[in-house]
Amino acid sequence: MINLEHKTIVITGAAGALGTVIAKHLTDLGARVAALDILTPDEAAAALDLQPGRLDYWQCDTADIPSCQEALKDIAARLGMPDVVCCHAGLVGVAPIEGYDADDFDRLMQVNLRGAFVLAQAAVKQWLDTGATGQLIFTTSWVHDHPWPEITPYAASKAGLNALMRGFARELAGRGIRANAIAPGIVAAGMALKTWNENAEYRARASVAIPLGELQPVESVANAFAFMCSDLSAYMTGSVLTVDGGCSLYPNI
Ligand SMILES: NC(=O)c1ccc[n+]([C@@H]2O[C@H](COP(=O)([O-])OP(=O)(O)OC[C@H]3O[C@@H](n4cnc5c(N)ncnc54)[C@H](O)[C@@H]3O)[C@@H](O)[C@H]2O)c1
Repeated sequence: MINLEHKTIVITGAAGALGTVIAKHLTDLGARVAALDILTPDEAAAALDLQPGRLDYWQCDTADIPSCQEALKDIAARLGMPDVVCCHAGLVGVAPIEGYDADDFDRLMQVNLRGAFVLAQAAVKQWLDTGATGQLIFTTSWVHDHPWPEITPYAASKAGLNALMRGFARELAGRGIRANAIAPGIVAAGMALKTWNENAEYRARASVAIPLGELQPVESVANAFAFMCSDLSAYMTGSVLTVDGGCSLYPNI
């Protein structure tokens, strides 16, 4: 059993389909979890089973520098210096390349790439300023190096996130800061489940793309986070933990 007592963990996108399950799992394993999302506190409280002192909520737009800095400062004061900061918030846009709107492209990059950089940078500054150490976890996706139709900007954002992760890992290893990524597959939650349910063509394509044969249980993503947040991952930096049911093993379409 993984024990996360004495860990303070920050996770963005915490009120989303995956984030709510991950935040609850980390809390159940003993961590103090700071759940961050752009949603209002009321909206977040409806999604998350908040537990004061164990699972608390901060409204934060990860693309906004002061918002990230203020949230991290307040978290350090109230829960203690974060041990792990998970840059998990992300958007997906689905459209064929010839119809993809450039403003939607900018918005997606703003959240998926800039938002992750801004929050990770704020965490790094806080750790370095106080002499603390910590780990960054970036949520990428199996599509970061396996093109999938109609989500090319999303796949590019995740490839960029992978490069960010490796850059943070390389530059900061000597100062006690690690960075890793978790790359899920096609999860039975949120954006993928909605598309699976509403789009027969997508369902047909996705159903042959998963070697293990079924949509990915969201709990498998939460388990990967539990491992990566624990001391069991202490010697890992610059790594991608791929948990995708084999999607990335071969081209399926
Ligand atoms: N669902 C999947 O199949 C799947 C697969 C691989 C990777 N992922 C990744 O997992 C993460 C979560 O996906 P999900 O399916 O739970 O999506 P989701 O849309 O359910 O959740 C995303 C959350 O991010 C929040 N958010 C959006 N912009 C924000 C911002 N600027 N600041 C703070 N929060 C913001 C949203 O309010 C939402 O609660 C994403 O990074 C996604 O790319 C999902």
